[in-house]
Amino acid sequence: MDLFDRLKELRERGLAEIAKANDEKNLNDVRVKLIGRKGELTEILHSMSEVAPERRREVGQKVNNLRDLFNNKLDDAKDNIVQTLVEQRLEEEKIDVTLPGRRMHMGSEHPINIILDDLEEYFIGMGYEVVQGPEIETDHYCFEMMNLPKDHPARDMQATFYIDSENLLRSQTSGDQARVLEKHDFTKGPLKMVGPGKVYRRDDDDATHSHQFMQMEGLVVDRHITMGDLKGTLEMIARHIFGQDRETRLRPSYFPFTEPSVEMDVSCFNCDGKGCPICKFTGWIEVLGAGMVHPNVLENAGVDSKNYSGFAFGVGLDRFAILKYGIDDIRDFYTNDIRFLGQFRKEER
Ligand code: DAH
Repeated sequence: MDLFDRLKELRERGLAEIAKANDEKNLNDVRVKLIGRKGELTEILHSMSEVAPERRREVGQKVNNLRDLFNNKLDDAKDNIVQTLVEQRLEEEKIDVTLPGRRMHMGSEHPINIILDDLEEYFIGMGYEVVQGPEIETDHYCFEMMNLPKDHPARDMQATFYIDSENLLRSQTSGDQARVLEKHDFTKGPLKMVGPGKVYRRDDDDATHSHQFMQMEGLVVDRHITMGDLKGTLEMIARHIFGQDRETRLRPSYFPFTEPSVEMDVSCFNCDGKGCPICKFTGWIEVLGAGMVHPNVLENAGVDSKNYSGFAFGVGLDRFAILKYGIDDIRDFYTNDIRFLGQFRKEER
């Protein structure tokens, strides 16, 4: 191949290589290879001695032209690559300012916690202390201290999960009463406490039963506490939760830790006592158990039952929530479906 052919070949191949280079590094390699100090064009220039003297000027001219051409094409290619990069970046960083913003998902309080917080606040306002007993409770506090000796028939009222003969998953929060009574120093004033918490029972789960639910225990002990104090307190709770127009009534009942024992009904908030499916056409809805603290419970905890008396009550918070929000399946409280849970909001008082 003579020099003219080599130049022609280099021109075609060089232009193709420049066109193929797709990034700056690549392009720079091509530049060095074509027109660098040890590049192919320089090599051709070094072979000038092979050319007849009279044609050297012409070859020199062609070499210079090709160098200019390569230079121009390399510069253009570089501009293109830079431009493409900029465009790519702009495309990647493009934001659509007309898109709606991303919504923050707002959590909501569990309906039972709404009622619980509300009641706690209410009782704190009346000078009650809020206590929390253990969920793994002893037979001693849960039953024996509460006037339910071993083999007492009333133990059957609560199907209890036993861990061993002495430890159990508490089936009622009533043990909190015994724990507080034992410690209270009556020279410092009356005992007023509420004890909210989870309780467990060996129940088959259905729409109205759950093996887990929430109770709130209440206890007031002082000198001269009467049934009238109990009635007034329960009436206030009922009206606070179910509305100021509610009527209440007490029915005799039985609990081992109270004597006398009562159950409280509120007039139906749905039909105002006229009768409807919610109150099973009785006009009344049963909401809690209560009574005057049994002297044995006081004595078991070392409190003198001749000089001190008290009342106690036990509230099913699930039941309160079911009634207040018109929920028809207690299991909804424990299956953590946010479509259910998201529907409840604390009301402003
Ligand atoms: N512990 C009872 C239950 O789980 C509820 C109860 C009734 C608690 C009367 C009390 C009370 O403190 O006085 O069924």
